[in-house]
Amino acid sequence: MKAPTATRNRTGDWSIVRRLFRDYIRGQWPILAVAVLCMVVTSALTGALAWVLDPLIHFVFIEKNARMLLILPPCVAGLIGVRAFTQFGQDAILNSMSERIIAATQRDMFKSQIRLDIGALNSVHSGELIAKFLYDTTLLRTALTRGVAGFGKELVTLIALAGVMIYQDWQLAAISVLLLPPVAWVTGNLGRSLRKFSTRGMEETGVLSKSLSEALSGRRIIKAYNLEDHAAKLADGRISERLRYLLRAVRARAAAVPSTDFIGGVAAALTFAFAGYQSLHGQLEINKFTSFIAAMLLAQQPVRTLSQLWTISSEGLSAANRIFAVIDAKPAIEDKPGARPLTSAGAHVHGAVTFENVSFAYASGADSPAINDVTIEIPAGKQVALVGPSGAGKTTIFNLLLRFYEQKSGTITIDGTDTRDVTLQSLRDSIALVTQDPFLFDETVAENIALGRPGASREDIEVAARAAAAHDFITALPLGYDSGVGEAGSKLSGGQRQRIAIARAMLRNAPILLLDEATSALDTESERQVQEALARLMRGRTTIVIAHRLSTVLNADRIYVMDRGRVVEAGTHGELLAKGGLYARLYQHDLVDEDPPSLESATP
Ligand SMILES: Nc1ncnc2c1ncn2[C@@H]1O[C@H](COP(=O)(O)OP(=O)(O)OP(=O)(O)O)[C@@H](O)[C@H]1O
Ligand SMILES: [Mg+2]
Repeated sequence: MKAPTATRNRTGDWSIVRRLFRDYIRGQWPILAVAVLCMVVTSALTGALAWVLDPLIHFVFIEKNARMLLILPPCVAGLIGVRAFTQFGQDAILNSMSERIIAATQRDMFKSQIRLDIGALNSVHSGELIAKFLYDTTLLRTALTRGVAGFGKELVTLIALAGVMIYQDWQLAAISVLLLPPVAWVTGNLGRSLRKFSTRGMEETGVLSKSLSEALSGRRIIKAYNLEDHAAKLADGRISERLRYLLRAVRARAAAVPSTDFIGGVAAALTFAFAGYQSLHGQLEINKFTSFIAAMLLAQQPVRTLSQLWTISSEGLSAANRIFAVIDAKPAIEDKPGARPLTSAGAHVHGAVTFENVSFAYASGADSPAINDVTIEIPAGKQVALVGPSGAGKTTIFNLLLRFYEQKSGTITIDGTDTRDVTLQSLRDSIALVTQDPFLFDETVAENIALGRPGASREDIEVAARAAAAHDFITALPLGYDSGVGEAGSKLSGGQRQRIAIARAMLRNAPILLLDEATSALDTESERQVQEALARLMRGRTTIVIAHRLSTVLNADRIYVMDRGRVVEAGTHGELLAKGGLYARLYQHDLVDEDPPSLESATP
């Protein structure tokens, strides 16, 4: 995240404004029209208030007209009353409009981010993204409420007041115009530095929220290793750094009003000097001059606000720019044009899976690919096990089959169709995945299981939970199926989380089942129960098991042994043992006397 936006040119700014208008503001035009009407009336009334001093002084003070004394003061009160009403209308409408615009941008940001592929999601820290969601949208909201509202209103007010000034005394008005170039210069400069500092402030907000979210997710390690001071010091540094930029932004923002006030003051002094000169030479009418001065003093406020708004909108525009960058992010893995569902015409997915000379590396320049020329063939309904040391590339096989990432070369097919030719939705619909580290959402047990098939009935959920040997522990929870599981399932044990994940997969009822060490966190007894459940689940489904327990491997139709990204051996348990290769070594070294035998400890 660099800060090129600080020196962004005007065309860029205009395209941001145009896009804001096109995508978010235009849809609300009826209500915006009402707001603009209120705005114009408010401003015109402000001009009228200045103008009314002219007849007031002329008729009441100079001509001593008593009837006018009865008419004009109530008129002033009436004007102020109506102006209060239109002012309210304008503020209420514009504020609710910008809240709606912010909500719309947040919806778009979320939709676009959640659709990104896993590689892109991994590249940004979640904390930074959250900061963008909250901090940048706040900047944009301020710019919208104060910017759109203020800009229109103050500009119209200024024009109305300038009209009064020119009408009353064009020569004096011309002097006031002298104040505009220096105001523009000062505010332009302030806007630029404000934009720079608030961009940096935003980046630091991202870093801060990143360390906050890390400290919270790592709380157990922080406590166990006495790292509280270390964490506090890190956070402290980031908070100070952020403060540094925010304070500079505060100074730039705060300088806008006093500097325009100063320039305005100089212009006022000049006006008085010139008016005094005219008066000495008998050309000045006091009623006109009073009205002029009233208009000029009233005009100070819009000029002041406009210069402030300029700086605020600079900040808002650079925030909008960052928001649009989030919205425009495109997933690298998408349905290709003309992609069809995996099952055409309602046919059933059988689930035959093949990998043909597939290679893949996570980083484009990596010298050792995660998967290297892998060929695997799994007939529909068969069980296959992947074994091998840690880092061999087993989980990567799943990532590629699910199209979380795209292979660099080779072909992956399901039922003979290249997975790149089918829609992502139909592909993933036909697969149920149970991961190494099952993730639960901070919802109830029942809701977490139902994620396998949204809309599933309570009966279906219970059947799935029983099949996953989870029913007994769930009913023992305080609220049974309605108990919350805590953040990421933190109120449950590892084995309980795993059984809920298995129940979720059972409910999904997909033709292809991927188990990534799905029973690693279970004790012997629950593992036995879950194994039975899994055996039931696997029946008739294509299953790929990343296994570390021998029982699963023994029953597999075929075992693929992986090492450093390659398939080094394949065959049944008996064949592989007879061969005396890596599998036999893993088996003899570490597994032979274990009960239940485990391949996990074969990891070097
Ligand atoms: N998201 C990622 N980004 C970059 N490299 C990765 C990523 N995930 C895995 N790798 C690398 O790819 C290689 C294969 O990893 P993989 O997760 O497939 O191993 P594995 O066989 O499942 O190991 P384990 O038994 O420990 O789970 C490893 O060298 C790993 O460092
Ligand atoms: Mg793995």
